[in-house]
Amino acid sequence: MAVKQISERTYWVGAIDWDRVLFDELVTLPEGTSYNAYIVKGSEKTALIDTVEPHKKEELFKNLKELGIERIDYIVSNHAEQDHSGAIPDVLKAFPKAKVVTNKKCKQMLQDLLHLPEEVFKVIDEGESLSLGDRSLQFFMAPWVHWPETMFTWVPEEKVLFTCDFLGSHIATSELFDTTDENRAKVYLETKRYYAEIMMPFRNFIKKHLALIDRLGPEIIAPSHGVVIKDVEFMTGAYKRWVSDEVKPMVIIPFVSMHESTRHMVEHLTSELSKEGVIVRPYNLITADLGNAAMDLVDAAAVVIASPTVLAGAHPAVISFAYLTNGLRPKTKFLGVIGSYGWNGKVMVKHVQETLKNIKAQWLEPVLVKGLPREEDFNRLSAFAKELAEKVKAVSTL
Ligand SMILES: Cc1cc2nc3c(=O)[nH]c(=O)nc-3n(C[C@H](O)[C@H](O)[C@H](O)COP(=O)(O)O)c2cc1C
Repeated sequence: MAVKQISERTYWVGAIDWDRVLFDELVTLPEGTSYNAYIVKGSEKTALIDTVEPHKKEELFKNLKELGIERIDYIVSNHAEQDHSGAIPDVLKAFPKAKVVTNKKCKQMLQDLLHLPEEVFKVIDEGESLSLGDRSLQFFMAPWVHWPETMFTWVPEEKVLFTCDFLGSHIATSELFDTTDENRAKVYLETKRYYAEIMMPFRNFIKKHLALIDRLGPEIIAPSHGVVIKDVEFMTGAYKRWVSDEVKPMVIIPFVSMHESTRHMVEHLTSELSKEGVIVRPYNLITADLGNAAMDLVDAAAVVIASPTVLAGAHPAVISFAYLTNGLRPKTKFLGVIGSYGWNGKVMVKHVQETLKNIKAQWLEPVLVKGLPREEDFNRLSAFAKELAEKVKAVSTL
C-alpha cells in the first residue's frame, strides 16, 4: 500500500495484511488487519512511530522510500509486542543513527523480546517531550492497553494522538479514515470485537486513559491496527459505554450438545427468554465465531452455559469458552448452568463454576436433566427463564 497523509506533517507508512485470518492463534480476523506505522516530520528531526509485523517489513521500507525518508532520528515504540516492534532491528540496521524512544518498562521488554542492545535506547518518562524542531512528541504512560508497558505519543502541533493498540481494530482497507458510512459501521463492529478480545480485562485502566484523551482533545487518533479515527467522540463514546458498569437486557447461551438433549433445553430457554422481552443469543460453540460471542460478553447482563456431562466434567469446548470468559472478565451480573447428563451431572456444574471463578456475578440455581428433557424439565426451564428475565431487566440500563 502507498503512503498516506494523515495531517500536515504526519503520514501512514504501515502495511496491510489483507488475507490474515487468525491473530495470536486465537482471534479470528473477518476483515483482515493492518500494522500501522507512522512518520512525524519535524523541521529538524524525523520520527517513526512503531513499526510492523516482521513479515511485512519490506512494505514499511517501500513506504519510507516513497516518502523520501533518508534519515530517521527516533523510532518511538509505544508497545513492545512484535506486531509493532518486530521490525525495529531491521529499521535500526537501515538507519543506524536512530534511537529507540520508549519508557523504561518497554525498553526492558524490547531487550528481552528482540535482544536490542542498551546503547540504542533513549528512555523517556511520563509527560516528557522531545523536540523535532517545529513539531514535538509528548509521551503518556497508558499501562494495560494492552501490555504493562504500553504508552501514547502525542503530537500537540498536529493534534494527533498515537495510541498503539488502544482504540484500534483489525481491518484491512485501502481507506485511511473512519469517515465513510460503510467504514464507520465496520469500524464500530471491529473495534468492539477488538475491545472484547483484547481490552476487556483492563476496563478499569481504560477509564483513566479515556479521561486523558478527553483532556488532550485530539482531532485524530492513529492506532496501530485498522483505520485512523477522525470521529474521536464517536469512538471514545462507544468505549465509555463498554467500560462502564452498565449492561444490556441480553442473555447469551454458549452451548454444546452431542445428542440433542442440551440443544432442546437451549432452544426452550431461548424462546422463553425472548417471550419475556430479553435479547437472547445462543452460540453453538462447535460452529460459532468466538469473537461474536466475546462481543456480546461486552454488555450482556447474563451468561448461561449449557453443556452435557462428558468424562466427568463439562464438554471441552464449553470449558475452553469458560476459560476464555474467565480471563476476559466481562461485567455480566448473572451466571447460570444448564445441561444434560447420563448418571451424574453435578460434576459438570462444578467444572464450569470452578472455571469461571474470577467472574463476580450472582449464580442461579442450575437446571440439570437426565437424558432428553421431559415436560416437567421444560417447566423447570420456563421458571428459570422467568426468574432470569426479571433479574436481567431489573439491572439493565443500556
Ligand atoms: C463421550 C461421552 C462421555 C460421557 N461422559 C459422561 C459422564 O462422565 N457422566 C455422565 O453423567 N454422563 C456422561 N455422558 C452421557 C451424557 O452426558 C448424556 O448422554 C447426555 O444426555 C448428553 O447430552 P447431549 O445430548 O446434550 O449431548 C457421556 C456421553 C458421552 C457421549
